[in-house]
Amino acid sequence: MRRDIVHPGAGKLKYEIREIVAFARSLSRWNIPIRWENIGDPVKKGEPIAQWIKDIVREKAGEDLSYAYSETEGAREAREFLSAQVNNRPKPAGCPDPVKIETDDILFFNGLGDAVAKVFGFLRREARVLGPSPAYSTLSSAEAAHSGYEHLTYRLDPNRDWMPDMEDVELKVKYNDSVAGLLLINPDNPTGAVYPLEILQEFVRIARTYGLFIVCDETYANIVYGGAKTAALSQVIDGVPGLALRSLSKEVPWPGARCGWVEVYNRHSDKRFDTYVRSLLDAKRLEVCSTSLPQLCIPAIIGDPRYPDHLIHRAAMFEKRAEEAAAAFTGIKGISLKKPRGALYATAVFDPGILDALIPRSLPVSDPSLAEYIREQTANVAPDKRFVYWLLASAGICVVPLSGFASDLPGFRFTLLEYDDEKRRQIYRAMGHAVKQYLN
Ligand SMILES: Cc1ncc(COP(=O)(O)O)c(C=O)c1O
Repeated sequence: MRRDIVHPGAGKLKYEIREIVAFARSLSRWNIPIRWENIGDPVKKGEPIAQWIKDIVREKAGEDLSYAYSETEGAREAREFLSAQVNNRPKPAGCPDPVKIETDDILFFNGLGDAVAKVFGFLRREARVLGPSPAYSTLSSAEAAHSGYEHLTYRLDPNRDWMPDMEDVELKVKYNDSVAGLLLINPDNPTGAVYPLEILQEFVRIARTYGLFIVCDETYANIVYGGAKTAALSQVIDGVPGLALRSLSKEVPWPGARCGWVEVYNRHSDKRFDTYVRSLLDAKRLEVCSTSLPQLCIPAIIGDPRYPDHLIHRAAMFEKRAEEAAAAFTGIKGISLKKPRGALYATAVFDPGILDALIPRSLPVSDPSLAEYIREQTANVAPDKRFVYWLLASAGICVVPLSGFASDLPGFRFTLLEYDDEKRRQIYRAMGHAVKQYLN
């Protein structure tokens, strides 16, 4: 080729959550049935969709306009409904008034995956967004790909319930003037951390002090349990420019709808922020619009009097599973798991250095040729990925190595999603057992 056609960020697009699937599939030669604990799809893992939600969708699907394009920004009735919801969020004690938005401050996308690609893809190349480590890889990869460099990160501390190290955040902002924005995920994927008000206020203070905008991924805002208290970004952001990302995927749940939206806060507080937001809309306009049907269902589903109970019921369900996951790892030397307090995942972290020792580690597998294959495949991979491959080969359980989440900590993430209680408990027990065997 006479020109290099490769984008500088091309090598940065990593999504281990699905890449691990290709490896798991390669084990079919040995007839290993796989239990998928890698992908956050509640429906695939057996959760039934509430009948009243299906009835709403069925009724909407019976209307001709559900088959039409919607406005580029999204269906007006959905945006009016969602902006009213933002404007009705209460004021937390000790906070300034929550931000108020207009209908046009809601922009729909084909799932947050699409929103994230635009949010980072239309940022100026040199403008960096500092994000958490570990981090949900769609966000970290999109930021890295947009800049062409490694994603810039601040530390989430596993010894402090995965809270962000706010000193690290501030120092990285202060000494790197390319940082234009702060990214947080609350509740967090992969750690299950839920940030208290004070942490959120601290992010806002830093953003205000250094002239940054905030991106807060609130995919799991309505999946909080274990007594955790938090707030939406809109309730603490005051006058700072910001974006909150929300989706139908996990809370309805309806991941196949590919329906997510961005809430824009304080758009007019900064001219450059306003122009940037307009570029997100212009980019969407080239695609015409996002999927109409799920948007049209939003007022009826989220506005239904049964929806609050639906959320409470699901949060309680995940709380129970979080306890089971934590119990399965309690007392195992060499690994720790902080009980999640939000979202749909748990993350176990190996003690520092424990996997790096020169001891060749493995797990028992059914066939010597399989052991040989795993040894070959793990020769040059991160230590936590090595464990993950052996776990797959030995127990047929597919989890995601923490090194795939922009993290130096060795560990793995699994889901709280298996709907069959007995199967789920058995999976957690098998993982705990495998860790013990591996570290022995
Ligand atoms: C933190 C976070 N953000 C965004 C997404 C993407 O969600 P969507 O299905 O809306 O693309 C996910 C999906 O797992 C997620 O965990």
